[in-house]
Amino acid sequence: MIKKVILIALLSAGALFAQVKKGENIEVPYISYDIKMGEGFAQVQANCLTCHSFGYMINQGPQSREHWYKKTMKMITHFKAPISKEDVEIITNYFAEHYGNGK
Ligand code: HEC
Repeated sequence: MIKKVILIALLSAGALFAQVKKGENIEVPYISYDIKMGEGFAQVQANCLTCHSFGYMINQGPQSREHWYKKTMKMITHFKAPISKEDVEIITNYFAEHYGNGK
């Protein structure tokens, strides 16, 4: 019982220290994602941005063509995204060209 009280006391002390002092400035880093325009962007916009942002898709950096194909297919099989076969092709090409790593 006493151990529990000490633990709770320690935990709440930690919470106090974690608080921000008055007047302290907090800067939240701003990360901008460069959206590259080009062939296929319209399909990406119509098929991918309905569920998440553009930045969310590319925040892991350049990837292989296979990666982009698999991700697009994953959206269809796992999340039931209604994407046509033609659009899968166009979207894969778009990502491979603009966010590819040459593989
Ligand atoms: C029906 C909704 C939906 C659509 C449409 C959709 N996504 Fe997703 N996507 C998700 C969800 C949900 C997650 C989060 C998965 C997780 O948290 O594991 C996700 C995550 C991702 C990720 C992060 C990596 C990963 O494997 O989780 C990538 C990349 C991605 N989507 C690409 C795409 C692309 C490209 C398209 C268009 C072809 C697309 N998404 C369309 C629902 C969707």
